[in-house]
Amino acid sequence: MLIKNIVFSAIQPSNNLTIGNYIGAIKQWINIQNIYKCIYCIADLHAITNNNFNNLKTLSLNTLALYLACGVDPDINIICLQSKIVEHSQLHWILSCYVNWNKLKRMTQFKSKYMTYNHLSNKITAGLFTYPILMTSDILLYQTNYVPVGYDQKQHLEFSRDIAKNFNKKYGNIFTIPKPLIPKIGKITSLLNPMKKMSKSDINDNNYISLLDKPELVKKKINNAITDSDNPPIIKYDLKNKPGISNLLNILSVLTNTNIIDLEKDLNNINYKQLKKIVANEINNILFKIQKKYFSIRNKERYLNSILISGNRKAKIIAENTLNKVHKVINIK
Ligand code: TRP
Repeated sequence: MLIKNIVFSAIQPSNNLTIGNYIGAIKQWINIQNIYKCIYCIADLHAITNNNFNNLKTLSLNTLALYLACGVDPDINIICLQSKIVEHSQLHWILSCYVNWNKLKRMTQFKSKYMTYNHLSNKITAGLFTYPILMTSDILLYQTNYVPVGYDQKQHLEFSRDIAKNFNKKYGNIFTIPKPLIPKIGKITSLLNPMKKMSKSDINDNNYISLLDKPELVKKKINNAITDSDNPPIIKYDLKNKPGISNLLNILSVLTNTNIIDLEKDLNNINYKQLKKIVANEINNILFKIQKKYFSIRNKERYLNSILISGNRKAKIIAENTLNKVHKVINIK
């Protein structure tokens, strides 16, 4: 029997998912779900690193329903909720006693959040600092071969690989060394600040398109997206000089399955307003399908919970097995 490689990925339920999560992650999850044995997790423990515990259960169920509405198939994948598989927290602690804290200090995501929140020091929790260790535990517990992540998570994945390699060097072959699977498409950026990533936890909700936004709101947000003042307008992919237009082209390219060069040719006679109209229409087409499915299942909480119960059970068997191995080699078994 051919043993399938294992894929693990997760999204934090810190808010409803955005078009950036769909394009940057979930679309890829769906493309590979028939090829690998995939574990798609809802990282609720990661969502509380900023000290915000509001609506966590609701947001986790929204996230699950959105996974399903986008096409993640619960019959062939393991869909699980991080907090319900206690092995994640267990391994997190063990690894945190193994990793030198200087390594954590070098994480760019922590450094940039630290800079942003500086004046709100209660947001800088120890959890925010050790977050990459929890992410490492998520990945290593499942003997993961591949991790589909956006470019922004590449450093965290490197961190996980280093831990796994060092641990194996000391204790034998305990962990599979995970490899990143980074989508070829450019990252989807914030609408009003196209130099930074589109984030569902952005304080300004005009920066992102939520998968649950209504068509009128999508039109408005895309219409207000920052472009540039080139005169005449030029529809051209140029991340450095035209990040706003490049972002709209990225979105359009993925949603219409057309490569950027063809888009540039096809759209070369139109102005930015017309481009925005096309982009908003394409987004609304896909959101229509996602929302239709979403609203048909979101209130079936028994059904949603049953998916998690079954996914958690399957995940726990694998996680337990790895944690047992770890316990054995560090002499606490
Ligand atoms: N940290 C990831 C993010 O913010 C989410 C995440 C948690 C994750 N655990 C993971 C991603 C394990 C990949 C693998 O996007």
